Amino acid sequence: MANEQPRDHRQAPLDGDREAELAARAAQARHWAYAPYSHYYVGAALLTASGKIYDGVNVENAAYPDTICAERAAVVKAVSEGERDFVAIAVASANGGSPCGSCRQVLSEFGMDAQVLIVGPDGDVLQRTTVRELLPDAFGPDKLR
Ligand code: THU
Repeated sequence: MANEQPRDHRQAPLDGDREAELAARAAQARHWAYAPYSHYYVGAALLTASGKIYDGVNVENAAYPDTICAERAAVVKAVSEGERDFVAIAVASANGGSPCGSCRQVLSEFGMDAQVLIVGPDGDVLQRTTVRELLPDAFGPDKLR
């Protein structure tokens, strides 16, 4: 059980209220970003199938490559609380930044059909996409069975 990989499943689009809530949570979390080097503040909010929202921020480090992105921070928080079934993630930044390649890969581990909302600084949804669209042909758990 503990090491079971999650299955992909198509998701119904979030309803407007849930989408707005998730986007707002990402924009709110953004204020806690620790980004003294880039000053590029990112907030993420990850909605799980259980209905919980895990937020995350980018946490930079003086050893630059040790920085963790907001999306991965949210994923690590969720998985370490037993959550692996992701419905959607909202990512807020100053200018509609899209998840980096590493975050796309980490999200893909837990399902290709999670929705991805790209959000502006005020919680406005700028783009709606999915992990599958962001990382087609991902290298995934199926290759290691
Ligand atoms: N960053 C994220 O948090 N998420 C991404 O998907 C892209 C980049 C952060 C990492 C770094 O702290 C700053 O943005 C500039 O790269």
